[in-house]
Amino acid sequence: MLASRWLGHPRFLLAFRLLAALCASVPLLFLVSGIAVQSLGPDPGQEVTESLGLAAFQLLIATLCMTPLKRWTGWVGWIRIRRMLGLFAFFYATLHVLAFLQFILGWTDLWATFTKRPYIVMGALSFLMMIPLALTSTKGMMRRLGKNWKQLHKLVYPTVFVAWVHFIWQARSDVGEMVFYGLVILVLLAVRWKRAGSRQMIPFVRG
Ligand code: HEM
Repeated sequence: MLASRWLGHPRFLLAFRLLAALCASVPLLFLVSGIAVQSLGPDPGQEVTESLGLAAFQLLIATLCMTPLKRWTGWVGWIRIRRMLGLFAFFYATLHVLAFLQFILGWTDLWATFTKRPYIVMGALSFLMMIPLALTSTKGMMRRLGKNWKQLHKLVYPTVFVAWVHFIWQARSDVGEMVFYGLVILVLLAVRWKRAGSRQMIPFVRG
């Protein structure tokens, strides 16, 4: 009883949000410190690009975990950080694309760049799908779009799947990590399927 009052306390929820924001910032802090002390290895540009892509992907998956966690624990704190995690995922994905252009393929002839390899097409597709999700993640957009908002935000499932295809396609050797993420996505999709039609399953919504 005491614990549940404490868990629902606004100050505790705020502290949890701040902690989540701090955790989501860790990949960026690592990269910035790595650049500062020049510890990113022989190809820093590649390292920066890969780390940002991984952070975007992991945060996208974390975003999708929030609703099941809320349902299983009954604690509203998970929902309070969902939109923030989704926006962090978009932030990292944007930096990932910019790093790719800056360090790997350059800014000339963007069409040729993005269609150069199938895994890059997948990355670009996933990124394009993230844009409307991020742009419509505000409460104002939720109100404005009404029922269509719910439909639109189902896009997060193909988005994470296509990002996973991009991830596994670019792998050169050990795909164990990718298979693990694939299984996590499969479980999340199965949970979503079971609860199809429920408003609570929509990602990026603040409860
Ligand atoms: C226009 C969009 C994108 C482009 C051009 C792009 C490009 C790249 C490139 C060049 C790599 C490195 C491949 C290598 O090691 O040779 C990479 C890796 C990766 N990307 Fe993307 N990407 C895009 C979008 C995305 C998005 C939207 C996500 C996730 C939401 C993502 C997640 C990843 C992941 C997880 C990796 C592997 C990182 C690792 O090896 O640890 N990418 N991407």
